[in-house]
Amino acid sequence: MSFHKYYFHLNFFDQLDSTSHYILENISLYSNSQKIPVVVVENQAKGRGRRKQRWFSNSPGSLTFSLLLNFELDFKYLSGLSLLISLCLVRVFVKLAPAEYRIKWPNDILFNERKISGILIESKNDIYRGVSVVIGIGVNVKLPKQFISNIEYPITDLYQITARRLNRNQLLAHFLIELYQLLSVFQIKGFEPFREEWMRLHHYHNKSVELHLPDKKTIVGVVAGVTNEGQLILKTANGLQNFAIGDISLRSKVSTG
Ligand code: BTN
Repeated sequence: MSFHKYYFHLNFFDQLDSTSHYILENISLYSNSQKIPVVVVENQAKGRGRRKQRWFSNSPGSLTFSLLLNFELDFKYLSGLSLLISLCLVRVFVKLAPAEYRIKWPNDILFNERKISGILIESKNDIYRGVSVVIGIGVNVKLPKQFISNIEYPITDLYQITARRLNRNQLLAHFLIELYQLLSVFQIKGFEPFREEWMRLHHYHNKSVELHLPDKKTIVGVVAGVTNEGQLILKTANGLQNFAIGDISLRSKVSTG
């Protein structure tokens, strides 16, 4: 696995439907670029989230951007990459807005059990370019109260921690510098060197959870960790099982009457 490209090329837009969609639509424009393209937007009209949900951002209270990586091989690195990005963001948040952040597998970042940032990884395979991976990131920097209460799941923003609106350019610059360092290790050694640090941040570690799979099946088990590829390990009634996708929630208590 190799990225080859070591520097970033930033493109700023006032308005786009979705930064990730924009990159995927224009992927051929970037194929010869020697730099990693980063697309940043002020107003994102149709932000995409995981599990086909919408992602809502707010100007100027959100940091909204996507970047494109080209792998020479293999989809198997994608799970690890997705976890790596969450670790990268947590490291940056801890530096600029120190607090106890937690991660919910695979890559939601939480503060006080409320989501503060979302990551969407999309990929396209091409025999000439290898695997192109678009990493889309939304960070809640300072959102209006009304906006926060309109989202159907609990969210929060960095302003709750810092009590001042963080400079979004600074946040982005720190993220890209950190990412550059993480990728230089990841492209040689994969996710393994980061696994322990990631697991310490996992909010659901050792907890009894339900894993909801895309085919609507639910698996019940205790979170036993993640693999070197970033898959979730669950201790289930059938023994240890690994999962590359799914959505976890704490297991609801069964009433004993
Ligand atoms: C999630 O559901 O948690 C993932 C949200 C990812 C949102 C970001 S914002 C920038 C990029 N463009 C999109 O349309 N989505 C991602």
